[in-house]
Formats: sequence, C-alpha cells, structure tokens
Amino acid sequence: MTGIISMAYLFAAVMFILSLGGLSSQESAKRGNIYGMTGMFVAIVATVLSAYVQAYGLLLIAMTIGAAIGLALAVRVEMTAMPQLVAMLHSFVGLAAVFIAWGGYLDPRVQHASHAAMVVHNVELYLGVFIGAITFTGSLVAFGKLQGVVSGKPLMLPFRHGLNALAIIATIILAILFVPVEHSEATTLYLLIMTGIALLVGIHLVAAIGGADMPVVVSMLNSYSGWAAAATGFMLSNDLLIVTGALVGSSGAILSYIMCRGMNRSFISVIMGGFGTDGGEVVSDEGAPQGEATVTNYEEVASELAQAKSVVITPGFGMAVAHAQQAVSELTSILRKNGVEVRFGIHPVAGRLPGHMNVLLAEANVPYDIVLEMDEVNPDLPNTDVVLVIGANDTVNPDAVEKPGSPISGMPVLEVWKAKRVVALKRSMASGYAGVANPLFVKQNTRMLFGDAKDSVQEVIKNLEFES
Ligand code: TAP
Repeated sequence: MTGIISMAYLFAAVMFILSLGGLSSQESAKRGNIYGMTGMFVAIVATVLSAYVQAYGLLLIAMTIGAAIGLALAVRVEMTAMPQLVAMLHSFVGLAAVFIAWGGYLDPRVQHASHAAMVVHNVELYLGVFIGAITFTGSLVAFGKLQGVVSGKPLMLPFRHGLNALAIIATIILAILFVPVEHSEATTLYLLIMTGIALLVGIHLVAAIGGADMPVVVSMLNSYSGWAAAATGFMLSNDLLIVTGALVGSSGAILSYIMCRGMNRSFISVIMGGFGTDGGEVVSDEGAPQGEATVTNYEEVASELAQAKSVVITPGFGMAVAHAQQAVSELTSILRKNGVEVRFGIHPVAGRLPGHMNVLLAEANVPYDIVLEMDEVNPDLPNTDVVLVIGANDTVNPDAVEKPGSPISGMPVLEVWKAKRVVALKRSMASGYAGVANPLFVKQNTRMLFGDAKDSVQEVIKNLEFES
C-alpha cells in the first residue's frame, strides 16, 4: 500500500507542476486547472487511504463542512472580491500548519532514532508554527483591509521596526531553548510563547501595510503559506507536501515580485509598510488633472470606431466594476465582422489581481489571440486609430513616463496617448487606485465618454453604422 501511495503522491506532484505550467497562458489555463484539480483529488484520496488516517468519521464530517463552505464561497464570490477570498484561504493554510505542528509536538507516539533526528524534528515544527501563525493572522488582517472591515490606513506604531526586531530576537532565543532539548513543560511554554509572538507579528506586519499594497501582501502571504506547508511536509516526512509547499512558496514569491515591478514598488518597501492609503485608495490631493477635458457622446464614438482601421481596447478595474466585459466582447465582434482590426492591450497590474482582465475577457469569449500584453501592444499604439480606455486609469497615465516627480513615475504604462484618438470611458474625472491625477484625460486627442462603462459600450453599439 505504501508503494501505491508514494506513486499517487508522485503523480499528484507532477500534476501540480503541469498545472502551474498550464496556468502560464490563457490558451492552456483551463487545462492547467484540470491538472491541478486532478492532482488534488488524487492527493486527498491517497492521504485518506494512508495508514496514518483512521478517524474516518471525523474526517468525513470535516471534509463535508469544508467542501460546503468552499463551494458556497466560490460560487458566490465576485471577481472583484477574489483577493480577499484568497487572503481568507491563506489564513486557513496558516492555521492548518500551526495545528499540524502543535499536533506533531503533542503526539506521544513520536519517537526519534537519534538526538540529531529530534533536533531536526523540533526545527521543522518550530518553523511550521512560526510561519503558519504569521500567515494566519497576517492573512486575516489582509482580508479585513480588502473587505473594508479593518481600516486600510497603515498602522504606524512608534518604534514599529524595533518591535518587529524584538519579536524576531525573542523567537530566536526561544528556538535556542526549545530545539536541542527533549520535550518538557518548559518546552511547551517556549512553543506557546513563540506561537503568541508569531500571531502578533502577523497582525503587526500586515497592519503596518496600507490598503493599496494589499494585493502584493496577499501574494506574499501565499508564498508564506507555501513555506509553512513545506515545513509541515518535512515534519510529517510527506514528500507531496514538501513539493507542493515549495511550488506555492516560490510561485507566490515570483508573483509578488512581478506585481511590485508592475507597480514600480520595491518588494522591501512594501514589506516595511507605511505607504499611505485609506480604504484601498491612496490618499492624495491630486484628485483631478489640471486642464479642460473634451467630452464626447455615443454617436461620435460609434462613428469614429466605424471609420477606424485599427482599434485597441485597454480595459482596467472599471470594466470589472461595471461588468462590461460581455458588452465589450459584443462590440469587438461587431467591429471585427466589419473589417476593423481590434486588439486588447493588457497591463500586468490592470484591475486588482494578476490576470484579472484576462479572466474577464476569456469569460466573455474574447478570442485569446487578440488579447496582447502591454509590451506587445505599446509599439503599435502610434499607428492605432482609436484607443478605447475602458475603466482604466493608472495603467494609462502618461505621468508615469513624462513626470519624474510623480508618485507613479517609473511605472510601466500603456502609452495610449500616442494613438490618433483616445476615448476614455469612466464615470467622472476621479483618480484611479494610486490616487494621482491623470493628464491623459485632458490631452488634445482624448475624448471623455462619461458614464458606467457597460451602459456606455451598449449605447455605442446601438449607434454603430457601417457603410456597406
Ligand atoms: P484604476 O487606476 O484603479 O482606475 C479604475 C478607473 O475605473 C477609475 O478611475 C474609475 O473612474 C473607473 N471606474 C470605476 N467604476 C467604473 C464604472 N462602473 N464604469 C466606468 N468606469 C469605472 O484601474 P487600472 O488602470 O486597472 O489600474 C489598476 C491599479 O490597481 C493600479 O494602480 C495598480 O497598481 C493597482 N493594483 C493592481 C494590482 C493587480 S495585481 N492588478 C494589485 C494591486 C494594485 P470613475 O470613478 O471616474 O468611474
């Protein structure tokens, strides 16, 4: 039986690797998900059948409750609320790691072949509790901030870096006391104190980070949860958990790095916190751009689109808020049927989570091959007749490249202002997520089409007329 279970674990690990590979492009993402689901199914069945599991009744109850909660949440969650769902799920991984490590500590059956084996086991469970506890409370605070339950403002305690340093020093001292000795009442106390410290560090670490950086924090916690799982895997001598934990840990770290680069923020500055925000928006007095915006209407936009040879659509968070993707897809297909070349330009951090726009467009059946990345579309923008900016703001802000002192200076952006005509669909002149003014909206070649993005696109469609 052990051999079959090892084979099943190996199979599941390969499935997880294939799954990550599949998720790297839209065409293969569905397949990637199927690999992942298959791997997880096999992993769960193999674990349940292994010799370690005996309390089938309890397990069935726990799995039924867990599956019911998971299903209910997944069915109901809005795409815009995905980051907080992910944060909540990471908190579960953290809590599981803490429970498993504590279980490993309290289990009277655990025997060690040598002193060295005991030390290794103690290191593993100490790390499992430490990383797991930080992930648990950190993810809960991240969830609270994203959901608006907790203020998005960074918590700036006096001497906060000192507090973190003290916590780390205390953790190291406790580790030195805990790791090399046999379990006793004293070691239980050390582990208990460290668990408390780690839970507080998790809260403090994330509370000090502003709402604007929360998506990066969620991805970072994703990475932590992976490392917590890997530590647990070492403790349980479970190869699958080690491989899966390492995959989650490293992919979360890479994702955090990509997001930081897309927002032109350094990873260290995100972790150190203090980037001022309130409720997810950076507080700034630079709300509206200086200058006169030129307002357009549905008929005019429809006529410009009908006459255009090439159109680029750059969607942003507003398209998600307006649920405009279906209407945008319909507009795309009408324009294409009438000989207009339509492509999408997707900024790496458009929306609120990586791949946000790609998922929405795929859901609305926009063909993958016309959905291009920012770097692919930027060189073509000067030759584009019309760019439709649908609910995007920061990701198309010329100040990022033209104004060195701007808060978003250096952030790579879609250079839409280089096109012959830019039509921006949004409800007002309000700023975007970063809270900085956007001079794109007052440029000479820009026209503002005010209103909800979905309504505006639907009205434009009604007004489209092509010469036959
Ligand atoms: P944003 O800069 O957030 O701008 C979205 C715009 O959509 C707003 O200016 C808003 O203007 C408009 N809008 C909202 N609801 C609308 C509706 N119903 N109809 C039409 N327009 C609507 O969007 P973006 O360009 O996608 O940029 C994303 C931002 O999020 C960046 O600053 C990025 O750094 C940040 N961020 C992204 C991520 C990831 S991984 N994607 C992670 C963290 C942070 P009105 O209110 O005037 O309508």
